[in-house]
Amino acid sequence: MNDIVYVNGDFMPANEAKVSIFDRGFLFGDGVYEVIPIIHGVLIDLEYFFQRIESSLKKLELPWPLSQQDLLTTLHQLVSRNSLQEGFIYLQVTRGVAERDFPYPQNNKPTFIAFTSKKNILENPLADTGVEVVTVEDLRWKRRDIKSLNLLAQCMAKQTANSRGAYEGWMVEDGYVTEGVTSSAFIVINSQLVTRPLSNSILPGIRRRVILELAKERSIDVEERPFTVDEALAADEAFLSSATTLILPIRSIDGQKIGTHIPGPITRQVRELYLEAVLETVSKNQGSS
Ligand SMILES: Cc1ncc(COP(=O)(O)O)c(C=O)c1O
Repeated sequence: MNDIVYVNGDFMPANEAKVSIFDRGFLFGDGVYEVIPIIHGVLIDLEYFFQRIESSLKKLELPWPLSQQDLLTTLHQLVSRNSLQEGFIYLQVTRGVAERDFPYPQNNKPTFIAFTSKKNILENPLADTGVEVVTVEDLRWKRRDIKSLNLLAQCMAKQTANSRGAYEGWMVEDGYVTEGVTSSAFIVINSQLVTRPLSNSILPGIRRRVILELAKERSIDVEERPFTVDEALAADEAFLSSATTLILPIRSIDGQKIGTHIPGPITRQVRELYLEAVLETVSKNQGSS
């Protein structure tokens, strides 16, 4: 725990960081969070991060903790103070400290914390071997479009998936896959990418957004529609995407093998396209922070 973290305006060693027990993030999960991948010291998909956190804050009537420019400066400083080359920044904004009462306190000062973590993102052996997924019931609330701190249903789902030997759970509602516990879900049928359309039922994944843009640019056929567990089991390929895994092929769902090659051709292409885009961002931004 020698890392330097950020709490409400100050950088400090992690073991000195403190937040009040009356913080609404602690008492109610009243706040939002984000995860930004860092590659070669550069923050990736930054513009989409700003758009998503703005949307989450707005939907919960939470104020920005800092101006966008100060937020960006803080995040860059955090990366540099931790000499982070590859990994991610986790940041969260809560409604701050107040008497415990359900309605939103007025003009409360938000709590803003951020920390970094090292992780090999580019060289991930799972990108070659693929991962196992099991289906789990989607027990979440009805505003999954907000990246809120309320993650108990996801903790339960991940625990169930891991205890069944799987890397990830695909959450299922009314027979349809909503998304991964901590990732977006894709299947490939006859070379067409299929993923659930955006709504309050899923988080608008940033990697999902970039993948769909890249697919459009490269004329990969995409259909945004809900898909069933049976369709996923019969798919030619399946993969997941998230900030810290980018794109990972799925080897099996509920123990049933998916496709014949891991990674399948479309999954491989999508990961390569995404990596190309990431490295382009890196070369444009290296040294600018
Ligand atoms: C429920 C859920 N869906 C999708 C994602 C993937 O989103 P992103 O690509 O922005 O990391 C995550 C990431 O944590 C998630 O928790």
